[in-house]
Amino acid sequence: MANAAASATPAPRARVQAMMEYHPPLGSRDALRLDFNENTLACSPKVREVLGSISAGSLTRYPEREPVEAIVAAHVGVRPEQLALTNGVDEAIHVLFETFLEADDELLLPVPTYTMYEVYASATDASAVPVQAADDLLFPFERLIAAITPRTKIIAVANPNSPSGSVATRDELLELARRAPHAVLLVDEAYFHFHGETVIDLVGVVPNLVVARTFSKAYGLAGLRLGLLAGPVALMRWVRRVLSPYSVNSIALACLPPALEDTAYIDWYVGEVLVGRFDLEAALDNVGIRRWPSRANFILVDIGPQHREFVRLMRAAGVLVRDRSNDPGCDGRVRITVGTREQMKQAVTALNDAVAELRIGRSKQ
Ligand SMILES: Cc1ncc(COP(=O)(O)O)c(C=O)c1O
Repeated sequence: MANAAASATPAPRARVQAMMEYHPPLGSRDALRLDFNENTLACSPKVREVLGSISAGSLTRYPEREPVEAIVAAHVGVRPEQLALTNGVDEAIHVLFETFLEADDELLLPVPTYTMYEVYASATDASAVPVQAADDLLFPFERLIAAITPRTKIIAVANPNSPSGSVATRDELLELARRAPHAVLLVDEAYFHFHGETVIDLVGVVPNLVVARTFSKAYGLAGLRLGLLAGPVALMRWVRRVLSPYSVNSIALACLPPALEDTAYIDWYVGEVLVGRFDLEAALDNVGIRRWPSRANFILVDIGPQHREFVRLMRAAGVLVRDRSNDPGCDGRVRITVGTREQMKQAVTALNDAVAELRIGRSKQ
């Protein structure tokens, strides 16, 4: 007969018990996917060719990441020892936090920002210190500087930021790194291709700068889970101790070189998004819906109290968008991913209909 001790389940750490459950609103996504900032079309055809040629025999081997890390390092202009491939940027964040955050440390982050920074911070015993952006959602540079303490251990900056699309300048990032020499400055360039500006050239030059990039957005490989972390060897050697040597699988590794080589495809896709963003901005201005200036493949818009209805109407019209109302300072705001110019025509039609039905923006009575 089972006694009480045998039937009790082991308790997780107190911090884990206190964590919020994170539910990505997935379910059926058989529609125009403007809710996750993904590539809305496909990856390069060159990647599809390689996918078709992967043999069953090759799957029997553990993945070998070093040769591909060398190719990626050359592509982004850092030394191979300065770069680690990861299972998406999410793993890069997780591993970086596990490597550096002790119980008394602080993670400084401008908010609103990418939700997973706080999730992974909660999995450590450190505390997250959110620094709220003003209503314009611009990068709160002065407030961040003022929030630096001797306990600050990591400063996480998504650049461009999500969900706002706002950016920090190179000078601001350099100044942050200089003011907090005892902390790691993580610059998450997940949306780099749509912005075009980077600080990855400063890796190894600025001793506390670490840069992350993803292959989930412009490259259209979110399902393969591929990211990178680049930083000075003195920091990366510790990250590598924590990182699983096999977390990037061999199919992802096989697909990465052709994805990088096909720069024409990335240029084409980014060009489509930039035109699509311009068209969506014009449509929003036309119906009088407030938007925040974005340097990424999405736009944050102010729908107001009817945000849930708006998301529902867009879904009914076959367009998925993301309610960001739970983000700090974002009540009533919805994020719309930008796809190709053709896709944005469908999105704009759905938007116009929803705005008219809800009588918001200029159609308000
Ligand atoms: C700022 C930012 N970083 C990282 C990620 C996740 O990237 P990955 O798919 O490589 O884990 C996202 C995804 O939305 C993001 O917005």
